[in-house]
Amino acid sequence: MRALTGIQPSGSAHLGNLFGAMLPAIHLAEKYENSIIFLADLHALTTVHDAEKLHTLTINLATDLLALGLNPEKTILFKQSDVPAHSELSWILSTIAPMGLLQRAHSYKDKTAKGIDASVGLFTYPILMAADILLYDAEIVPVGKDQKQHLEIARDLAEKFNHLFGETLTLPTPQIQEETAVIPGIDGKKMSKSYGNTIEIFADKKTLKRQIMQIVTDSAAVDDPKVPEGNSIYEIYKLFSTKQEQDDFAQKFRNGGMGYGDAKKILFEKAEAFLAPLREKREQLLRETQNIESVLQNGAQRANKIANKKLEQVKKQIGVR
Ligand code: ADP
Ligand code: TRP
Repeated sequence: MRALTGIQPSGSAHLGNLFGAMLPAIHLAEKYENSIIFLADLHALTTVHDAEKLHTLTINLATDLLALGLNPEKTILFKQSDVPAHSELSWILSTIAPMGLLQRAHSYKDKTAKGIDASVGLFTYPILMAADILLYDAEIVPVGKDQKQHLEIARDLAEKFNHLFGETLTLPTPQIQEETAVIPGIDGKKMSKSYGNTIEIFADKKTLKRQIMQIVTDSAAVDDPKVPEGNSIYEIYKLFSTKQEQDDFAQKFRNGGMGYGDAKKILFEKAEAFLAPLREKREQLLRETQNIESVLQNGAQRANKIANKKLEQVKKQIGVR
């Protein structure tokens, strides 16, 4: 059984990424032998058009994952662009992918609905993602809720391929953690790099505090009873606390007497206690950049071996020998 997930190096990682994707992926990968976590730099090219920036973001993301506890001896960590088979299988799958299937994809539909010109790469994004997964016979794919449709497309393409050319590809199953499916940002909308409403994982203490203090609230006074559910301060506090602490915090909101300013300070203390050791670990790793490059090279070697074998099998099935 293999778990696999990809993360785009497209900006500084935030709490939504951490609890919705990175930590669940690292934990799942620990559980299954030869699991895979890769840096989806080819996918990031659909939004990042700056060579230096893409390189820095990629190395930063690798460092983030190692600081969060990814064990590269166990889990295969590599850069998507270091394994050419991803692009090759992507092309092969594109020749059997129905236009209509991709036209219904949210990632593309949302952009065009906003009047943004989509690139062909953004349109075919889900095909590359299917290739990422199918090359490794991945059975479990931990992702955030917003990736569910992409997983369905991967399954559809695998099924169609198997139907046309014989059983070759394994159908993946998404693993979505419901309780952390959508983490709200400081404006109450889904936390996302593209909305500028994030709380970063590895920001310094001062920035962390500033981002938390910026959480938007309503105008309830200190003594007013408040509804905890759906309140961003409470929803984010939940990520860092035990069930008992959550209940206490919720009760204080309901009773009135705890103002939003105080609530944010409590949240900050909790978040800082959780994030400070990770920040330290990360700084230590950053001093060993060469180490990170060699971890990625080693990961690419292992990934190429698995991916090339699968690609050979695919090529044989379709008649490209
Ligand atoms: P962003 O929206 O910030 O660009 P990405 O699309 O790069 O984030 O998402 C990377 C991973 O993190 C995906 O698996 C995604 O589902 C997850 N994720 C992103 N934002 C959130 C959030 N607010 N809550 C839960 N998971 C999230
Ligand atoms: N599209 C995913 C995201 O934006 C990243 C990704 C690329 C991915 N390839 C993948 C996730 C394969 C899981 C499996 O979050």
